Amino acid sequence: MIVHNVGVVVALVGVLLPVSCVAHSTMTKNLKVLVSSKDFPPAGLKVLQEHFTVVQTKYLNFGEEGRTLAKDDLLKLIPGSSALIWSSNLAISKELLDKAGPQLKLVATVSAGYNHCNLDELRARGIKLSNTPNVLSSAVAEIAIGLMLGAARRFTENLAQVHRGEWEIGFDKVLGQDIRGSTVGIVGLGGIGQAVVRRLAGFEVAKFLYTGHREKPEGKELGAEFVNLDTLLTQSDFIVLAVPLTNETKHMINKDTLGKMKSNAIVINVGRGDLVDQEALYDALKNKQIYAAGLDVTTPEPLPRDHKLLTLPNLFVLPHIGSATVRTRSDMGVLAANNVVNALTGKALITPVNL
Ligand code: DGY
Repeated sequence: MIVHNVGVVVALVGVLLPVSCVAHSTMTKNLKVLVSSKDFPPAGLKVLQEHFTVVQTKYLNFGEEGRTLAKDDLLKLIPGSSALIWSSNLAISKELLDKAGPQLKLVATVSAGYNHCNLDELRARGIKLSNTPNVLSSAVAEIAIGLMLGAARRFTENLAQVHRGEWEIGFDKVLGQDIRGSTVGIVGLGGIGQAVVRRLAGFEVAKFLYTGHREKPEGKELGAEFVNLDTLLTQSDFIVLAVPLTNETKHMINKDTLGKMKSNAIVINVGRGDLVDQEALYDALKNKQIYAAGLDVTTPEPLPRDHKLLTLPNLFVLPHIGSATVRTRSDMGVLAANNVVNALTGKALITPVNL
């Protein structure tokens, strides 16, 4: 077709395009999307509100009380939802899915990990699952490095001194371990594991090791050597856990594997609490069988204030803040929201979880 009047074409496009967009979001406006926490990032909420009827709990999904209130509220709000935007501290259970009803198409978890989702139930019902990997790798890797420094440089003991007003600056009391010249072993060279290695580039690490299901091309690029778990455990000064929680990885750090570590080993966990058998970790730290540990994740979360792990001077704990930066949480929210848009408008998910 030869276009003789460009002005008419532009005007037509100008009229037709918004009409079709409006028609599209009008069509999806009757779809209900449930958001599981009151603090879902505004940028993600905006994406959802442009397309759907958004229903959001007024509760924060934290602490035992918050979780109970939120769960009860969500059970009331969930019927008729076409998609769920879900935070990882509340399980996607059979009970919730039963309540939601057969029109539910997608669970969009606002996390990289999806161990809180009942995959068998989702699969059986043909409900899709998306997560938010990659956008959080840098933030989580930075917390891993914070934990390495915190555990190696005895932040727990040293902060306690500051609070007591007694600074024991002698040689024995506060000296820690160097990252310089150390061997760093990464369990799981995925997005987060790779980001840890990249961020340690200036720390003069002597050797990077990694383990996992298979050797990865990124390992070569990063100068990390692929080894089996036993070799990593016996040779590493820092052992960084950056794997998802599965039946295979549950309690991978236990009495036996702790027994293979060097006496100066420092265990870092940014994955999930259950990667570590905490009883065995407690014993190993208490008996100074290993040097220290740094945990961003524990079982349970929050760790009760009187939990025996918190009595250990050589443990540095953070309250699961790996992805907790303004920018990263916003990116996670927008990614989760766009997964919902795609799922409910017949497009492929951006970050699907293979069920
Ligand atoms: C994740 O995304 O899995 C982080 O641990 C936050 O839950």
